[in-house]
Amino acid sequence: MNTQTNNTDDLKLFKPGHIGSIEVKNRVVMAPLTRCRSDEAAGDIPGSEMNIEYYRQRANAGLIISEGTQVSPAGKGYMATPGIYSDEQVEGWKPITQAVHHAGGKIIAQIWHVGRITHPELTGGPSPIAPSAIKPNVVAYTHKGKVDVPVPHALTVDEIATVVAEYRKGAANALKAGFDGVEIHGANGYLIDQFIRDGANQRTDQYGGSIQNRARFALEVVDAVVAEIGAGKVGIRLSPVTPFNDLSDSNPQAVFGYLIEQLNQRGIGFIHMIEGSTGGDRDVPGFDYAWARDTFKGTYIVNNGYTREMAINALETGLADAVSFGRAYISNPDLVQRLKLNAPLAEGNPATYYAPGPVGYIDYPALNVTA
Ligand code: PHB
Repeated sequence: MNTQTNNTDDLKLFKPGHIGSIEVKNRVVMAPLTRCRSDEAAGDIPGSEMNIEYYRQRANAGLIISEGTQVSPAGKGYMATPGIYSDEQVEGWKPITQAVHHAGGKIIAQIWHVGRITHPELTGGPSPIAPSAIKPNVVAYTHKGKVDVPVPHALTVDEIATVVAEYRKGAANALKAGFDGVEIHGANGYLIDQFIRDGANQRTDQYGGSIQNRARFALEVVDAVVAEIGAGKVGIRLSPVTPFNDLSDSNPQAVFGYLIEQLNQRGIGFIHMIEGSTGGDRDVPGFDYAWARDTFKGTYIVNNGYTREMAINALETGLADAVSFGRAYISNPDLVQRLKLNAPLAEGNPATYYAPGPVGYIDYPALNVTA
């Protein structure tokens, strides 16, 4: 097919539809992006004028998935990331969700626990937690500089129940804050992924060992969140083969295949699939994405280095229902308009991805034309 056409109205990418039960004006999704610009001193609170402006500028997306929001202090892994556990954080998110809605967009919260990918300097005291006491080979970026992360505390069964309840509260808070739903962060080597993949999970109880046992924590979180806000508003992000955050699995197809079949039984709204290595090589063996797309009954969102042409083709050929863009949305606030016009995309500056302040955050210009 001709992807150079100006008749973009006929392309599925730009047509309205649903992501789970959420009505969207197009199938372009803004991927969750850590930007480290919340008010850390006040308690990891979002909602500054620049935070509001950043999301408002990007409300052209059919759906915005917020930056990862930690469900507890222990769930925080980077400086100045926002939380979703305190009343003050809920109040902070409200003007952001309102601004996106006012601009005609939709926004869901990504609820996040980093597990072992943190340091007490970042959590404010609590030790990193994980399924097993296995230290990943990663560094944490703290106010004291780069530090090696410590050996994590292996959660007890009682502590696991507490963490599941934290995700549930995060989902309840997300709706209180005006979000249209939540994405459970099950990807990229953070806590849920640490349970799923055997590179970090060597438990011998009901949360480790067999595929069913390693998927148990993920499914308990899904069940808790679904019970709180309803399945249609819930999705999960997965990255079956990414080596990001020093995680691996001996048989990704088996464990993620089981998980996806179980997610079908729960009727959740969407899966957000990172294909290959996060932010890098798409051609990493070990998982059959076409199988996942065919098997999963909800909305199937794909991610990782999609160009305009790849995105259009994925939707036209039925390989996906929606495509998410991460880095492209940092530097192209009007990404949907640019994709429609086949206009050039601006390059972002990695030096300001995580830097405090408005530079490299709300100062990327939109095109000077109307789409
Ligand atoms: C990051 O801050 O680098 C980061 C956070 C969450 C992800 C991936 C990367 O899922």
